[in-house]
Amino acid sequence: MNLSFQTSSLKSVKADAVVYFIEESKTTFKKRIAELRKLFGKRIDHIIELENFTGKDSESLSILTEGKLASPRLLLIGLGDEKKLTIEKFRRAAARSAKQAKGMKLKHVAMVLPEASETITDVELAKALAEGAYLSLYKYDKYLTENKEKKNVAQLTLVSEKKEIEKEINKVLREVKFVCEAVYLTRNLENAPGNELYPESLAQIAKESAQKFGYRCTVWDKKKIQEMKFGGLLAVNSGSERPPRFIILEHNAGKKNLETIVLVGKGITFDAGGISIKPASGMGEMKMDMSGAAAVIGTMEAVARLKVPVHVIGLIPSTENLLGGAAMRPGDIITHYGGKTSEVDNTDAEGRLVLADALAYASIYKPKAVIDLATLTGACVVALGHYATGMMGNDDELMSKLKTAGEATYERVWQLPMYDEYEKLIKSDVADVKNVGGRWAGAITAGFFLKKFIGKYNWVHLDIAGTAILEEDLPYAPKGGSGVGVRLLVEMLKGWKTK
Ligand code: BES
Ligand code: MN
Ligand code: ZN
Repeated sequence: MNLSFQTSSLKSVKADAVVYFIEESKTTFKKRIAELRKLFGKRIDHIIELENFTGKDSESLSILTEGKLASPRLLLIGLGDEKKLTIEKFRRAAARSAKQAKGMKLKHVAMVLPEASETITDVELAKALAEGAYLSLYKYDKYLTENKEKKNVAQLTLVSEKKEIEKEINKVLREVKFVCEAVYLTRNLENAPGNELYPESLAQIAKESAQKFGYRCTVWDKKKIQEMKFGGLLAVNSGSERPPRFIILEHNAGKKNLETIVLVGKGITFDAGGISIKPASGMGEMKMDMSGAAAVIGTMEAVARLKVPVHVIGLIPSTENLLGGAAMRPGDIITHYGGKTSEVDNTDAEGRLVLADALAYASIYKPKAVIDLATLTGACVVALGHYATGMMGNDDELMSKLKTAGEATYERVWQLPMYDEYEKLIKSDVADVKNVGGRWAGAITAGFFLKKFIGKYNWVHLDIAGTAILEEDLPYAPKGGSGVGVRLLVEMLKGWKTK
């Protein structure tokens, strides 16, 4: 979708529909209707009374403009209580209007920029509207050959009479487009089935993105992974015909005076559980077990296009977790990169095994911070559902940065405790650590397993099992892969202080 700004009015902007946002609160509601009355006369009062439109944040109303406006349709969209307006409310209102326009098969939608307030600026409004609209129009329809909706909104124009904000708004719209395209890429990777997306094809797509947008991509094949002694990645891969890959991405390579941040993404392209096989019901969702990897690729693409002044490394250990004759067994002991050992008590706790190698390896970059993203545990979904990412780590400042970015983007994170007591749950009699911790606190014991392998750096683990894989639609993310992590990390990296 193309995003643009136009200095214009509700009356004179020309699109298939023009969206006008209306607050529910009495005096403001009256003020908005009075504006419309100037254009439509008394007819507007009749319509809103007949349709019982009051500006609630669930309401929308489409009106034919009959030549009173340059656009043939006016779409009134309720914002709800004016005192409770937040950036997220604007994202959702824009999403609602965009989806409605799509339903009406409209190509070009204009939105009148709502009034800025003391707490929300014009630029923030424009960003929220464009984001909400853009993200809500996503659909994974690659494999639909019948009933495929061919039309989608192709143009969104934000409209304001304030000429002076044009430059700033255009700048932010360009950024929104880059970020939303990265979220689309991440969602496409998540939703791609396991027969299309496997370690080699994932690496190929990362390579193409890197080439296109000017960041670096190095891919290790199985031989190199063996040479490097990535025992966790090789053990998980052993039940699979398809070889593993280790993908290394780099933005701002070789630039001095920039701090280094390493992002690590779990890249299990399909997780059957291995010999500790998962139940059949719902197993297909495990094609999305590479959502951490997808978020890292999306983030790298976005920060490269935005030229964010940070040195960012992306590390992706990728394999399937299947059950071939050579598969790892419960009871096996693995030697990871760096030499630490782990006992495999359950082959379905495979994510931590591949992340262990990557986290240990991350030390070579002497990073300021390492953040890993992984659809790591069902326990995290039980604890937080689909509305918050589980967060653990060893550095309060880094966690607070992520918390702030999470509130700003609405990709919210929630910290789980790393109290000492949990650590004994993953003690092993025969190796340095055991890969499962029993029934309780499964998200936390997984975090402790990872902690065993980190180097001397600040680290945060994000368990995105619930937030990446959606079982039903959210306001601007349809069921399936959500693309979570991209907006969160881009927001954090944009705000990263320079050295
Ligand atoms: N990929 C799964 C975690 C998962 C479950 C993600 C549901 C999204 C939705 C992970 O590899 C896994 O299987 N974890 C096990 C760990 C257990 C064996 C300790 C789990 O959560 O059951
Ligand atoms: Mn698993
Ligand atoms: Zn998994």
